[in-house]
Amino acid sequence: MVATHGEGVNLYDAEGRRHLDFTAGIGVTSTGHCHPKVVEAAQAQVGKLIHGQYTTIMHEPLQRLTERLGEVLPAGLNSLFFANSGSEAAEAALRLARQATGRPNMVVFQGGFHGRTVAAASLTTSGTKFKAGFSPLMPGVVVSPFPNPTHYRAYGFDEEQATDFALRELDLVLQTQSAPADTAAFLVEPVLGEGGYVPGNRRFFEGLRQRADEHGILLILDEVQTGFGRTGEFWGQDHFGVSPDIMMFAKGIASGFPISGIAASEELMAKARPGSQGGTYGANAVACAAAAATLEVIQKEGLVDNAAARGAQLRAGLERIGEQHSQVAGVTGLGLMLAVEFVDADGEPDGATSAAVQQEAARRGLLLLNNGMYGQNVRLIPALVVTEARWTRPWASGRRPWPPCSAEHIPPASPPRSSCGRPRVTRPATAVSHVTPSRRPPPPDRL
Ligand SMILES: Cc1ncc(COP(=O)(O)O)c(C=O)c1O
Repeated sequence: MVATHGEGVNLYDAEGRRHLDFTAGIGVTSTGHCHPKVVEAAQAQVGKLIHGQYTTIMHEPLQRLTERLGEVLPAGLNSLFFANSGSEAAEAALRLARQATGRPNMVVFQGGFHGRTVAAASLTTSGTKFKAGFSPLMPGVVVSPFPNPTHYRAYGFDEEQATDFALRELDLVLQTQSAPADTAAFLVEPVLGEGGYVPGNRRFFEGLRQRADEHGILLILDEVQTGFGRTGEFWGQDHFGVSPDIMMFAKGIASGFPISGIAASEELMAKARPGSQGGTYGANAVACAAAAATLEVIQKEGLVDNAAARGAQLRAGLERIGEQHSQVAGVTGLGLMLAVEFVDADGEPDGATSAAVQQEAARRGLLLLNNGMYGQNVRLIPALVVTEARWTRPWASGRRPWPPCSAEHIPPASPPRSSCGRPRVTRPATAVSHVTPSRRPPPPDRL
């Protein structure tokens, strides 16, 4: 679809048709499209100061944003560095970790996604497509398992066993691949994002924290997708009681304006080499104004609680619908960060069906995304302003069948197999990677 404008959880096309947007620009438009308070703040700022390069001057929206972030940042993380994208936040976290520890290696966790720049892609293990064709990537990255019960159920592991396995393998990694004295940091998402909306768990994060403390390794949490209320807590880490040394954030902070950053203690941040962290556009004045307004809206409209409540309803409805379809293995995620996993008749991840469901939903005017390491999930990440009455109830009640899940839209045959024996994913997880002129697609049916 070609969007002309958006409002709340709706996007509109040139023909005036409404599309229900359960993608939120990949988890970015936290307060919905064009929330009036965010629009007002950005418009007012555009007329005052657009760009005030923040290593040259301080500007007022940056002061306001810093103060607001101070109210919500985890204890001890009292120093901030700003950039523009999640990938840049990954670069900044990596740079700080290496400079502060003087150690070269990063341990990342299987299925993690941290971005597409060379360093961020090197730290990413949620799919080969993020690394393909531009090797050699950055050295010094070692991969350890994430306690992923969805993936490890093939071995009969439940969450506890997957956690035992992940921690034991991490010890093996430190013993055989990256000695603690060579390991700068563990980098991990609280909930795997691209990797399939798989939450970590308290014991796993405690295990990471304990090993990090024991060996002087830094713990970096990538809250780019899980931050700002998305999971029903303000930060994803709040579900697990874990405190990071460095935290990355982006996406939901500014309702669509590009701004990202890292937070750390002043003491740790001071260990970055002078001049090494910076950039022309970071902490853009309009983006800062929009971010400060977004934080105010999240707080005043109780959007974190709304994400928890609406997420629980949506999840319950999806689970009820899933019970009616053998292709649905289950529902994963936290808050309004939910995914439905599809499997084939052998119980293997089924990317073809999930792609078909996503496409059929789009045809009917409901925008969804896919994720999962085999593209086997349909993910739902509506804006945090989604309301019960307007959107969630018909789904959550299970009375209105999930349109794309009717048998006619789910291919009965198993998808073609790739050479490694896994289902071939017929569609990339991210909808648009480049833009080519094309004929207008047929109009979707109204919801
Ligand atoms: C957890 C996580 N980290 C990093 C990134 C990279 O962010 P960006 O696309 O803004 O570079 C993403 C983007 O989806 C993400 O979900």
